[in-house]
Amino acid sequence: MHNYLKLLLFLLIMSSDALAGGVKNEPIQPLTADHDLDPKLVALGDRLFHDRRLSQDNSLSCGGCHVLSAGGADGKAESVGVGGAIGGIKAPTVYNTRFNFVQFWDGRAPTLEAQAAGPVHNPVEMNSNWGEVVSKLGNDPSMVADFYALFEDGVTGKNITIAIADFERSLVMLNSRFDRWLRGRDVLNEQELRGYRLFKSYGCISCHQGANAGGNMYGFMGAMGDYFEDRQGEITPADLGRYNVTQRTEDKHYFKVPGLRLAAVNPPYFHDGSAKTLNDAVRVMGRYQLGREISDDGIEDIVAFLFSLVGEHVRFKP
Ligand code: HEC
Ligand code: HEC
Repeated sequence: MHNYLKLLLFLLIMSSDALAGGVKNEPIQPLTADHDLDPKLVALGDRLFHDRRLSQDNSLSCGGCHVLSAGGADGKAESVGVGGAIGGIKAPTVYNTRFNFVQFWDGRAPTLEAQAAGPVHNPVEMNSNWGEVVSKLGNDPSMVADFYALFEDGVTGKNITIAIADFERSLVMLNSRFDRWLRGRDVLNEQELRGYRLFKSYGCISCHQGANAGGNMYGFMGAMGDYFEDRQGEITPADLGRYNVTQRTEDKHYFKVPGLRLAAVNPPYFHDGSAKTLNDAVRVMGRYQLGREISDDGIEDIVAFLFSLVGEHVRFKP
């Protein structure tokens, strides 16, 4: 009898553990931290990410356009680089980028390491090069010491990108209300749940899915209507999207589907920053991606759901 009771208790504990640790079977899954990161490398990456010497005139760091305390972007439709150069495209957030299958709107960088070399060399961003940057950092004894503690070959362009990329891998927004709900907590209100149901039943989920609610495929902008014709204005090089990488006509206007985890806090929206508010962005998506005019109530519900996707990070308190 005693043993039966013990067995019963054991089974009860096991099943409640399974419930508490279990994650709902949904097309969006919780964000998870990367536990394999070396804290020293992350700290060096943090330093470099905020180091203005990575730009030609020492005026701009990565963090100048990806403001960590403001959601990891700059709030502008087009970023402003050194000397006031206009970039022609919206800066995405650097939070949760470890979940993107490729980086940049057009997917031209396969990894975060490859990405980090881009802005340093981009004339409308930092307008510099590894030769300049390595010689500036190489004159800073504390920087040199930090590098040699981690890399046999000290300060190099490659090592700079390795450190920055690992720092970015630490920028994950955990513990959002939506993720807590996925893990079995009853924390979403009726409106948020309605919004999530619409997000699935309307088909937003067919493109915005996975841990980052996006970032795992390319999508055509204007699947159900000519977005660019209706937007008016010239077609810019940035509008061509994936075509800029492949030069294949069928890739025109394809973009990496952006992750929506931080959409609630990172206006304006789309690669061209054309939608000023999240409500506008949801309306445009309904119209041009799904051929559907979503009601104002439906938009409010979806927006409420999108707000529940925002997690926490020590650098950012929404
Ligand atoms: C002048 C402002 C500016 C600076 C400085 C800048 N970025 Fe960006 N960043 C952007 C813009 C704009 C894009 C989008 C460009 C594109 O997709 O073609 C971007 C894209 C990215 C992405 C891709 C995110 C995604 O979801 O695809 C990452 C990661 C990133 N930047 C990290 C960095 C790092 C690291 C640095 C410093 C080495 C840096 N940025 C410097 C403006 C800037
Ligand atoms: C066919 C694939 C597809 C579908 C379906 C889709 N989207 Fe998108 N979504 C995209 C692409 C691609 C972009 C980027 C477009 C651009 O920048 O020009 C985007 C951008 C967005 C953005 C802006 C994010 C940012 O950071 O700028 C939001 C918000 C969004 N979608 C929400 C939704 C909602 C809500 C639905 C359903 C009503 C939906 N999407 C349906 C592919 C899709």
